[in-house]
Amino acid sequence: MDRSGLFRRTLVLATSGIGVSAVLGACARPRDAAVREPKQDGGAGEGGEVTPGEDLMREHGVLRRVMFLYDEAVRRLDGRDDVPGDVILSAAGVVRRVIEDYHEKLEEDFLFPRFERAGMHTDLVAVLRRQHQAGRLVTDDVLTLVRQPLREQAARRELADRLRAFNRMYRPHAAREDTVLFPALRALVGGKAYAELGEQFEDKEHRVLGEEGFEKAVAEVAELEAALGIADLASFTPT
Ligand SMILES: [Fe+2]
Ligand SMILES: [Fe+2]
Repeated sequence: MDRSGLFRRTLVLATSGIGVSAVLGACARPRDAAVREPKQDGGAGEGGEVTPGEDLMREHGVLRRVMFLYDEAVRRLDGRDDVPGDVILSAAGVVRRVIEDYHEKLEEDFLFPRFERAGMHTDLVAVLRRQHQAGRLVTDDVLTLVRQPLREQAARRELADRLRAFNRMYRPHAAREDTVLFPALRALVGGKAYAELGEQFEDKEHRVLGEEGFEKAVAEVAELEAALGIADLASFTPT
């Protein structure tokens, strides 16, 4: 798809709330059937099932790839390089759909209340909750700004500031969840409830994102990386 075609389609889909991932289903690799097979022993993570922690961390992987897209957009905005607004619009759409409306809802509905009831990591959870709200406002701004022509220096600077603010907050936010909150979850709820939580996450993923929701998000992000010319991982290896 050429850029203008992608832009038109992105606008239509973003407006309808579907997102580009819906049209990328055909290129998403099917999930390994073994990955989601229910376990026989009631435990979690010992037989191939995706555990809640792994589920949440790989969603952070999608978030990190979007932040990498934002980094590249900022680099271009700070310079005089062309910035394809359609690509940034789609990237922000992934944040809204996959991170804010799905991943963060899981944290808010299934994790944070457990820690609050147990009196564990309550200060951290309070900050994480506030940052989810702040992140949604930043994404509102990005979705608005990126629809405007990015020729004027003021518009470019404003968008770059918002993208920088997003990454500045979410890198430590996700890292703190990965290293403090998620590792504490299993000990907090116990093995059986942990396994059940994994099943609840899977049900919610299907309801909110549809079948193969994670794989479609990964495929969409990969397309956006290609569109921004940052898809070649080897090119970032220091020589
Ligand atoms: Fe979070
Ligand atoms: Fe998170």
